[in-house]
Amino acid sequence: MSEPVVRYHARPSGPLVGTVRAAGMTKNAGCKQLAAALLCPGTSTVGNLHPVADLEVMGELLRAIGADVTWVADDTLAVDASGPLVPEAPYELVSRMRASINVLGPLLARHGRARVAMPGGDNIGSRKLDLHVRGLQAMGVELEVAHGFIDAQVNALSGARIVLDFPSVGATETLLTTAVLAKGETVIDNAAREPEISDLAAFLVAMGARVEGAGTPTITVEGVTELHPADHAVIGDRIEGGTLCFAALVVGGDVTVAGITTAQLGVAADKLVDLGAVVESTLDGVRIRMDDRPRSTDVQTLPFPGFATDFMPFAVVALATADGTGIVTENVFDNRLAFTAELNRMGASVHTEGRHAVVRGARRLTGAPVRALDVRAGAALVLAGLVAEGETVVHDARHIDRGYPDLAGKLAALGADVARTST
Ligand code: UD1
Repeated sequence: MSEPVVRYHARPSGPLVGTVRAAGMTKNAGCKQLAAALLCPGTSTVGNLHPVADLEVMGELLRAIGADVTWVADDTLAVDASGPLVPEAPYELVSRMRASINVLGPLLARHGRARVAMPGGDNIGSRKLDLHVRGLQAMGVELEVAHGFIDAQVNALSGARIVLDFPSVGATETLLTTAVLAKGETVIDNAAREPEISDLAAFLVAMGARVEGAGTPTITVEGVTELHPADHAVIGDRIEGGTLCFAALVVGGDVTVAGITTAQLGVAADKLVDLGAVVESTLDGVRIRMDDRPRSTDVQTLPFPGFATDFMPFAVVALATADGTGIVTENVFDNRLAFTAELNRMGASVHTEGRHAVVRGARRLTGAPVRALDVRAGAALVLAGLVAEGETVVHDARHIDRGYPDLAGKLAALGADVARTST
């Protein structure tokens, strides 16, 4: 059966007004926690999940490995990893989703063996795995990368001191989920500090792991001999929530996004202010007010709490309509600016040179057929469509579905003229 053709249709809108709630962080947190449930026999549950395409892939992958995955409530999946498990992640599934790599640590920790196809995922750069590999080797794992697979085995995992060259989210997750069952202490230095790491650690601690310092650059894990099943609900999706904050900035209006905090937005909360918005913390969320054209500013992406690379495409869209010129530097992924060619088809003036983009604000964008290259770039083109004359049709929008449960519905609830079609 061929895949459905998904498109977003956006037209000039605004102002956006009202309150929306961020979904649970399903793609970047929930999928990883479901993989972590492989660490022990028995049934763990992960709640506050929302239906995004990546969740289906993770479900299929865990089933292929031999776990039983079932919905036990509207937003909660149960993973019974009693086994027997097949410690192998097949190419067909891994190539569809980057987070598949998150089964590597749990399978190694539990079985001493894992064979995982090299992941695919977004088209946003080379996305190497060397930091995962080197950290695992320090814990005694023997790895071979050949024929598109990582083949890993270990007799006895031992704790180690690991200094990451770069605070990689994925490498921190792999090492954390391996170290919990290693013998002795593991220290991960220069660890990623994203809220997703703290949330994963909270799940692991609920399973009986001994983890300290998650959310700081130094995570210390004291290995235990076994873990037990646990129940956990994932945090609100700061990336989806942040997308809606940027929508308010780009289109204008008065929007409250419930279920996230300004702290979870990191430097992006300050950049929204630099771009001209009034940003306030509310009891349960973040309120954005904007009644003018965006102001220009410079943006550079950095690991958390720096300006998130996932928000970069939204900043480019804001600057594309701003009064003045801004320079955007993408420090995290090496091909993430490619989407700007699509934005230029809408009349934007973005000139890229390697990791840098010069964005000259235009008074007017014009609707055009464009293509989503990755999940966030796709969402950014939808936002651009809300301030472009005429209709914008975002093709290949299945990328958007990978991370957003209902982007069109949430924007429409705020008054945007946008629809998702699937044929
Ligand atoms: C995760 C998120 C993604 C987010 C990113 C940064 C998921 C599924 N994806 O991706 O949405 O944009 O964090 O916040 O949660 N690197 C290496 N060697 C390694 C590992 C990474 O060189 O072994 C490089 C990558 O190529 C990239 C950079 O480090 O240039 C950041 O990668 P990383 O933080 O690992 O991001 P992901 O976990 O892939």
